[in-house]
Amino acid sequence: MERKILIVDDDAGMRAGLTEALRRVGCSVTTASNGFEAVDIFAYDIFDMVITDVKMPRMSGISVLREIKGISPQTPVIMITAYGTIDNAVEAMKEGAFDYILKPFSTEAIESAINRVFLSKNKKDVVKSLSLEVQRGTKGLIAEKKIISNNPRMKELINLARNIAYSKATILIQGESGTGKELFAQFIHQTSPRRDKPFVAVNCAALPEGLLESELFGHEKGSFTGAFGRRIGKFERANYGTILLDEISEMDLPSQAKLLRVLQEYEIDRVGGVEPIPVDVRVIATTNIDLRDAINKGKFREDLFYRLNVIPLIISPLRERKDDIPLLTDYFLKRHSANNGKGILRISEDVLHLLMKYDWKGNVRELENVIERAVLLCDSDVIFPSHLFMEARIGDKKGDLTLKVGVSVKEMERQLIMNTLNEVKGNRTYAADMLGISIRTLRNKIKEYDK
Ligand SMILES: Nc1ncnc2c1ncn2[C@@H]1O[C@H](COP(=O)(O)OP(=O)(O)OP(=O)(O)O)[C@@H](O)[C@H]1O
Ligand SMILES: [Mg+2]
Repeated sequence: MERKILIVDDDAGMRAGLTEALRRVGCSVTTASNGFEAVDIFAYDIFDMVITDVKMPRMSGISVLREIKGISPQTPVIMITAYGTIDNAVEAMKEGAFDYILKPFSTEAIESAINRVFLSKNKKDVVKSLSLEVQRGTKGLIAEKKIISNNPRMKELINLARNIAYSKATILIQGESGTGKELFAQFIHQTSPRRDKPFVAVNCAALPEGLLESELFGHEKGSFTGAFGRRIGKFERANYGTILLDEISEMDLPSQAKLLRVLQEYEIDRVGGVEPIPVDVRVIATTNIDLRDAINKGKFREDLFYRLNVIPLIISPLRERKDDIPLLTDYFLKRHSANNGKGILRISEDVLHLLMKYDWKGNVRELENVIERAVLLCDSDVIFPSHLFMEARIGDKKGDLTLKVGVSVKEMERQLIMNTLNEVKGNRTYAADMLGISIRTLRNKIKEYDK
């Protein structure tokens, strides 16, 4: 199979040299002389890899990397750099570049870099191919995410997920925010025969109505105002792989109609397109609201619901499986201690007691955040309740506010802010975080109280 490669370099000589070398090893090459042109070309077509110079006028290689990753996170990008800009290359690796090549380089260096890309079948191999120095700084790559649970119902769910991974059946994952819906979707993709193909996630709530359709299915040149060129949609990008439609309840009705057609015929129509395009994509959808409500309100198509819900996976909230709390706590402790270069920490008895008592409205995500913050704050090897900032959340005496009728909102606000500051020993960053306001707002309020 011919590999399609996009080369971005402002130097015509470099472009010609690289093109020649890559064609010799059987690749098909497209070139761009600046970042803007590159991003345009990339949005119109599907490439197996991008090679970009780091130092270019107007738009830097790092910006090119970011744009490419924004369109297609899985496309490997290789940076070309001189010794003088090596720091930028390392920075780029942290942002998801696959590798970098130092200038001047031999044809062999290019060939071996390309082989590394195409020989690496999964993330583990990708990590191996990176130099150690970069590995340490690379977030997310080393820390392979696992579904941690000892709860019988969750174990059944994991088994079900493993069994259905092999089929092409559409899956609807339901659960409150932070219960691990995306994690399950990734697990299913990783366990399926599609694991070496793209996993493309689309957040249906993130785009304004009307734009989602072209995001999912692509559009032809000039098909609507603002559609400058042809654009490849996420379904085409996910071909032979899996597409995750996150928060599907937010999908607008025209897109729902199109999605239904995809699920029935496995063909997509680009906006403004004439010919349908066949696709082979496994669809996983998630929702944290009850879709039946949305159906009753006329916001969600009932026929689509039945199509999607071939295999329902319902993840229970953390407060209904509290037996998972100690296990998850232990897991997040180890992970965040390691990620932050701390020795293994342990928690005190009262910490466990607090964690078990809390009702975790934000589910596993909230637990992870609490543990991560505690790890960062802990200056010995034991985590104590004071590291959790949970008293205020639970409403123990210490952090409680007395609600009296007749007290002004301003006064309540003052009390809340002062109590929170007290709780975090005056650390404004943490206080602002807990209060859900910006540090600047917090500073202004404090100034006001000081008057
Ligand atoms: N059982 C679990 N084991 C380990 N980590 C978990 C587990 N469940 C959730 N997590 C972690 O908690 C965080 C939230 O999970 P995820 O993003 O999958 O939730 P979600 O249900 O998609 O939430 P939302 O509805 O807000 O998008 C992630 O960092 C995920 O890795
Ligand atoms: Mg999610």
